Amino acid sequence: MNIILLGPPGAGKGTQAKRIAGAHSLVHLSSGDLLRAERAAGTELGRKVSKFMDAGKLVPDELVTQVVLNRVRQELSSDENGVLLDGFPRTLSQAKDLDVTLTDIEEQICGAINLTLDDEQIVRRLTGRRSCPKCGAVYHVKAKPPKRAGRCDVCGSEVVQRSDDAEEVVRERLEVYRRQTQPLEEYYRQAGLLQEVDSDMEIDTVTGEIEELLRSCCFEK
Ligand code: AP5
Repeated sequence: MNIILLGPPGAGKGTQAKRIAGAHSLVHLSSGDLLRAERAAGTELGRKVSKFMDAGKLVPDELVTQVVLNRVRQELSSDENGVLLDGFPRTLSQAKDLDVTLTDIEEQICGAINLTLDDEQIVRRLTGRRSCPKCGAVYHVKAKPPKRAGRCDVCGSEVVQRSDDAEEVVRERLEVYRRQTQPLEEYYRQAGLLQEVDSDMEIDTVTGEIEELLRSCCFEK
């Protein structure tokens, strides 16, 4: 049971991925989180990807694809229920490499859920997002504030704003999304895997819609 969450930056992929993966014991693999962990650890890869991430550009395929696909192979070879991919693939080349890897290990995608949201909502969500650098919990100053101002509910650390959530960088990420990632909608539509969910609803409602769609394409099989 392998699922892809597609959608523009800020559509709620990470928020929903944590819920769906938790509810169905899937491994949540976020390419953005993997890259941020490399940066935080000060690795060579982390240094190479920093300038792309800070500018709102995609990290080149050759730097990101192997990192993610190695994790996919590793997780799926260890008896996991499946993976929930969040932020990967982001280009046609990544999507094709994912297909090759899954075929190689006799796995497949059962659904690609595309979360949709208009640009102005995206800007509001991302400029108001705060996250915990220690445990990765995600908040929003208005929609989902931490119980204690500025402190993570889970581990008590100070929550911070991501460097790429400044408004001008968010707008660049949206441009990049349209040019390089949106063509994936057609790729997965043609494969009969694409399902659309309007993300302009309460977080619980969006989760319910995703669950309903997955029941028809993934969970029944
Ligand atoms: P990445 O970390 O993947 O960022 P993204 O795709 O731009 O997505 P976000 O994490 O910004 O948003 P999200 O959709 O997860 O929304 P969230 O749930 O947090 O990538 C970052 C960078 O890494 C890229 O720019 C690129 O440089 C690089 N990168 C990563 N993967 C790559 C790849 N495969 N190839 C090349 N480069 C790659 O929600 C946002 C906010 O809204 C939160 O505050 C949340 O609380 C709030 N919210 C969520 N849902 C709702 C709701 N229903 N109502 C109200 N508020 C809500």
